[in-house]
Amino acid sequence: MFLRLQDVCKSYNGGSVRALDGVSFAVAEGQFVSVIGPSGAGKTTLVRLLCGAERCDAGQIELDGVRLDQARGGALRALQRRLGSIWQDFALVEQASALQNVLNAALPDMSPLPALAGAFGRQRRDEAAALLDRVGLADKLDAPVHQLSGGQKQRVAIARALMRRPALLLADEPVASLDPVTGRQIMELLQDIRRTEGLTVLMNSHDLALAKEFSDRLIGLNTGRVVYDGPADVPDQALAAVYGGGEAAP
Ligand SMILES: Nc1ncnc2c1ncn2[C@@H]1O[C@H](COP(=O)(O)OP(=O)(O)O)[C@@H](O)[C@H]1O
Ligand SMILES: [Mg+2]
Repeated sequence: MFLRLQDVCKSYNGGSVRALDGVSFAVAEGQFVSVIGPSGAGKTTLVRLLCGAERCDAGQIELDGVRLDQARGGALRALQRRLGSIWQDFALVEQASALQNVLNAALPDMSPLPALAGAFGRQRRDEAAALLDRVGLADKLDAPVHQLSGGQKQRVAIARALMRRPALLLADEPVASLDPVTGRQIMELLQDIRRTEGLTVLMNSHDLALAKEFSDRLIGLNTGRVVYDGPADVPDQALAAVYGGGEAAP
């Protein structure tokens, strides 16, 4: 199994907030999985643990046979190189160009002096430009990100994630800041990338309709627990368990 979580727990505020409470599931390589659930269910916490931004309190997280939860230092960075992430708020450098934002993804792989000097080299620049072309932004390489639309920003963020040639793409509410038409275009792009690059995608979504349409499988979280794990055509009864006690299903 490509990604495996076993009894993963994460609390905040000295244990008073249980964001994740014994989460277990496994994802096969190449699957498109959406994590659904009401606000506060633990979706973002899950992605933050998976990208190594935070550590779980208990349990195991395994990526391609390697324990992510135990990795430190260079071993953690090696695992993180296999991950790309995109976020609801894009997390781009707004003043920098689209190309520069994509190139920034290469910084952790560069030695300190060239990294400091921003000397990315011809090959990296060509690669970044090709990725921006791939996401439909061939004419925006030099545009400062703050001049781009929301959909274009998310395209830059996707190109930046791909620059790391990730095996697993993590997406936290990638279309929540976009209008429905643009959001659908971004979902179509993610699906196309998944197909052509053979990526595994784990996405959080509060948009149930989009999650159902684009995913192979849904995982429903409620108060930090998995209450549904199954096909994308989730039965209404299961939805009640996912959204019960939280905000209403969209
Ligand atoms: N850094 C934090 N400090 C304290 N509590 C947090 C923190 N991050 C998340 N939480 C809490 O953990 C729970 C899960 O949050 P989150 O993972 O953001 O849920 P979701 O993304 O599904 O809305 C919520 O109760 C939230 O308030
Ligand atoms: Mg969230």
